Amino acid sequence: MSADENRPLRFDVLTLFPEVFEPFLRASMPGIARQKGLVSYHLHDIREYSLEKHHKVDDRPYGGGPGMVLRCGPVFRCYEAVRAMAEPAGRLIMLTPQGKRFNQDMARDLSRSQRALLLCGHYEGFDERIRQGLPVEEVSVGDYVLSGGEAAAMVVLDATVRLVPGVLGHEDATSLDSFAEGLLEHPQYTRPPEFRGMSVPEVLLSGDHARIQQWRRRLAEERTRARRADLLQHESEETETSDEQTE
Ligand SMILES: C[S@@+](CC[C@H](N)C(=O)[O-])C[C@H]1O[C@@H](n2cnc3c(N)ncnc32)[C@H](O)[C@@H]1O
Repeated sequence: MSADENRPLRFDVLTLFPEVFEPFLRASMPGIARQKGLVSYHLHDIREYSLEKHHKVDDRPYGGGPGMVLRCGPVFRCYEAVRAMAEPAGRLIMLTPQGKRFNQDMARDLSRSQRALLLCGHYEGFDERIRQGLPVEEVSVGDYVLSGGEAAAMVVLDATVRLVPGVLGHEDATSLDSFAEGLLEHPQYTRPPEFRGMSVPEVLLSGDHARIQQWRRRLAEERTRARRADLLQHESEETETSDEQTE
């Protein structure tokens, strides 16, 4: 679905720690995007949907084992209430190390949507029935375990917001970023031309646009081959698939 030009991309964050998002959402690109009216943020405390004394939201795992598990009731009620606050229903992204690994394509896809609900876990994770009973898309930000989904939600939100058209002053910035074309970005330099014996490559000072473009492309390819050969592999597999489809 393409974003409605006149409607900001709406983020709803479902979390036990809404306060950790506030300074983050005020600063840098997330803050600028909101000021420009291109996105809106809505923080929801899952604890408020607990029916228990002291707003308890977790309990011991059936079958034993360490830690506590996030209970179904508060999460289902929170989702259902938040879902009904606006249209469209949007995508429900569950942050979990067991999810699909987040990448630039996923960020771009999300930046074109109208609404994203980010569900942050805590403790030992979610009661499995949250996965079964809610329309979640499980997303991981990497192969490591965080204490909570908040930092992961910020990663998803930040990567997505900067791709919303109009957020960065000039759209070229994102099309040249690492991963945008399946390559890492070329090296960048700014003033001064010489620093502690290290010089800016002569070609960048030449003013010759074509040579600069060639140099950047070559360096991006070399850097990608040296550091992330898997990206080139992925690109050649995609080219082969599209060749097969057109045959
Ligand atoms: C301590 S972790 C629970 C991990 C869980 N025991 C497991 O092994 O899948 C608590 C919460 O942090 C978040 N989290 C941890 N690592 C993450 C990752 N790599 N990507 C996204 N969310 C993560 C999830 O929301 C998770 O429910």
